[in-house]
Amino acid sequence: MSHLVAPSLLSANFLNLEKDILMLNQSEADWYHLDVMDGVFVPNISFGFPIIEKIRKATIKQLDIHLMIVDPERYLERFKKAGADIISIHMEACKNPIAALRTIRRLQAKAGIVINPATPVNILADVVYEVDMVLLMSVNPGFGGQSFIPHTIEKVITLKEMIESRNLNVMIEVDGGVDLQNAFTLVNSGVDVLVAGNTIFASADPKETIHQLKNIC
Ligand code: DX5
Ligand code: ZN
Repeated sequence: MSHLVAPSLLSANFLNLEKDILMLNQSEADWYHLDVMDGVFVPNISFGFPIIEKIRKATIKQLDIHLMIVDPERYLERFKKAGADIISIHMEACKNPIAALRTIRRLQAKAGIVINPATPVNILADVVYEVDMVLLMSVNPGFGGQSFIPHTIEKVITLKEMIESRNLNVMIEVDGGVDLQNAFTLVNSGVDVLVAGNTIFASADPKETIHQLKNIC
């Protein structure tokens, strides 16, 4: 399978979201990456259900919801109802990740687990059986436009080995500081889904940048 590109709406123009959504609909973007922040797990607050519901109505592409909230199990059903296709929760934010991941699957969404840059891949040893995707944060979560942490590449390689040695079907997504320079190495190391915010929305021609991210190999 060739890799997917998931533009992060956090870097879109909130005053004219419709324009950006139409652009993404017409682009080669595969998913919409939506960052939900609670001001507790991360030092920032983004958007919630009303915006996600509107985006759901405006696109047929998959909604990839990245929950940067504590105790995400409280809201899984509501995110599914708002239109989530993939729901990812942070290992660091959840008291019982396996129970929450099973709830996501019971709701018929794809289940993702996320780890921060300071969290080692081996923490996923037991959880990896319960997920459709692992999201590796390549910046500290909370803000768009930060620099990629290079050590993430080693984490991708370790995670890929973990997945393959167990013969599992689990996608690897990387989020934070992804650009046209590091995208090739990431995909070559085993990444299936590239999230990109600033690289796409701050570029002169976002649709063309998505095209380039899709055709890096
Ligand atoms: C950061 C978010 C990212 C962010 C990525 O906490 O999870 O999805 O929007 O933005 P860029 O690609 O600009 O680093
Ligand atoms: Zn994200």
